[in-house]
Amino acid sequence: MTGSVGAPAERREGREKVSGTARYAAEFHSPGRAQAWPVPSRVARGRVTGVDTAAALAVPGVIAVLTHENAPRLAEPDDPTLALLQNARVPHRGWFVALVVAETLEAARAGAAAVRVTYDAEEHDVTLTASHPGVYVPEEANGGHPAVREQGDPDGAFGSSAARVDVAYRVPPLHNHPMEPHTSTARWEDGTLTVHTSSQGTGAVRAVLAGLFGLSRDRIVVTAEHVGGGFGSKGTPRPDVVLAAMAARETGRPVTVALPRRFLPAVVGHRAPTLHRLRLGAETDGRLVSLVHEVTTHTSRIKEFVEQAAVPARVMYAAPHTRTVHRVAALDVPSPSWMRAPGEAPGMYALESAMDELATELGIDPVELRVRNEPDVEPDSGRPFSSRHLVECLREGARRFGWTGRDPRPGVRRDGPLLLGTGVAAATYPVMVGPSTATARALPGGSFLVRINATDIGTGARTVLAQVGADALGVPLERIRIEVGSTELPSAPLAGGSSGTASWGWAVHDACAGLARRLAGHVGTLPGQGLEFRADTTGAADAESDFARHAFGAHFAEVAVDTVTGEVRVGRLLGVYAAGRILNARTARSQFVGGMTMGLGMALTEGSTMDAAFGDFTESDLASYHVPVHADVAGIEAHWLDEEDSRLNPMGSKGIGEIGIVGTAAAIGNAVHHATGVRLRELPLTPDRVL
Ligand code: MOS
Repeated sequence: MTGSVGAPAERREGREKVSGTARYAAEFHSPGRAQAWPVPSRVARGRVTGVDTAAALAVPGVIAVLTHENAPRLAEPDDPTLALLQNARVPHRGWFVALVVAETLEAARAGAAAVRVTYDAEEHDVTLTASHPGVYVPEEANGGHPAVREQGDPDGAFGSSAARVDVAYRVPPLHNHPMEPHTSTARWEDGTLTVHTSSQGTGAVRAVLAGLFGLSRDRIVVTAEHVGGGFGSKGTPRPDVVLAAMAARETGRPVTVALPRRFLPAVVGHRAPTLHRLRLGAETDGRLVSLVHEVTTHTSRIKEFVEQAAVPARVMYAAPHTRTVHRVAALDVPSPSWMRAPGEAPGMYALESAMDELATELGIDPVELRVRNEPDVEPDSGRPFSSRHLVECLREGARRFGWTGRDPRPGVRRDGPLLLGTGVAAATYPVMVGPSTATARALPGGSFLVRINATDIGTGARTVLAQVGADALGVPLERIRIEVGSTELPSAPLAGGSSGTASWGWAVHDACAGLARRLAGHVGTLPGQGLEFRADTTGAADAESDFARHAFGAHFAEVAVDTVTGEVRVGRLLGVYAAGRILNARTARSQFVGGMTMGLGMALTEGSTMDAAFGDFTESDLASYHVPVHADVAGIEAHWLDEEDSRLNPMGSKGIGEIGIVGTAAAIGNAVHHATGVRLRELPLTPDRVL
């Protein structure tokens, strides 16, 4: 071992990014490249009765206008949100009803404004309530989780508990809003389709395009060299890639579709709103007797997507009597989708807020309450944990934060007009991993080339995979070259579910370890093309485990609540994680801090409202949908415990991309209660709610 893994290696693409030479999907300027601008539906439900394109076609520079009447016919996609311009139906406001292709972005935009669409509008319903008549229990929540799980007699046990908390929380719709909006450039040449796209996984993009256009996969190349974030919204192909491919085929020109940010909320998924009811019944010593978490959420008319927000309650605490339930209503809303820590982020906000309420009710320190409810095995499945160091995270966080000696009384710390408080919450995120392939080649000059279709969405994937390869080969990091981000490379799964590094790293490790063995047996000079080893982790990486595998963490927050303005300021945010082996201290810290910052946004500023009259999201750009800026993030610290876990993968790593968001909003909400004595149960904690 040369010890590359764990080191704070700098990002390999850092210089390209800061010098502006890193190419993103909109920056592939092939000759004759055209630009396109979509036309969103102005009604939330109904049918398009006519599209008048004459004025648009008269705009100088406009090349074509695609509508459901003239667009290429596509095979029916598995994902109904990709059946674009195939029929007159409008399933929600913002659904694309036309696409204008032009010589320039400006002409395309002017053309789109000139398209006249008439509709046969029907009444729409976009308002979710827990008692909505359309609410039903689906077969499954996302991730294949059963919608309902029950053990014992949770209602009876709750009724006879010494201490009870019965509360409701609401998390609003949230938007992913990556820095780089969803963008694709497509061109057809001799029946071959080349696409540069902003995606978390190009393999799935190629598979979907092959299906839609009836092409074999070897006629399609999809690349994603650099991606400006995704947070789940680029985990599946989005309208931009389908529209770009259609428009390029129709016009014979390379076409770029760069979605305007204001169109994103309607067409790239969102975190669905969740209504939570929590019932916690406990003994006077704090031990839970009954735990009931019921979630109601919405989905669209065309796709059932059920945010699995009650799933973390199946993992966290020991309770003999439990019930977890997911319910959903199909409304005339845009299709919800994956957003960072889907399920865990909203679910743990509710559960960890309720645990804080129980701690207050019982007069038990909230760190101590969690420690007392630590389970021996995963509560829902009965499986042992591969490793679980939640208690250690809580203790280490408490030590670093200075939790000991905290006055538990709410509303007693004052600094002029400010009320001060501190809060804690736990975090968890499942360990996921998928089969992957990679090749490693020893080159005659002494360097090594690792090839894998991993996607670097801004996390530093190139860098950490090179570290894994260097150690498996036993060579210095500088001798590893790496290629990622193209379907021309050995196939690998997407950057999602915090599983990228575990999945890709496993294949890279195996390829490099295999090559090292081959080199050890090799006599003489290398052949001109070098020596290659190919690894495929199918069978190993997708094997069922006898162990419950999750990362854990603890979040601590200190807030100041301005009693005059209602503003909440987070002075300190601290996270401690137990997530297996940390493979790169620098990029891991960025992931944790990024997740916590997103959780801070969830707590204080982010949140979208469905406009009942128009039927779409009111907050559709960054001027109205507020993500935290640097000034909002004062003292933020991420730490981790070294966790040895041999039941994961050859690196011993768990995922780290999502857990940072998971407990942050609850920790801040709990701190606001500690500061003010008022329990607010609806996010975000904006001044109008706080006052
Ligand atoms: Mo993440 S929401 O699994 O891309």
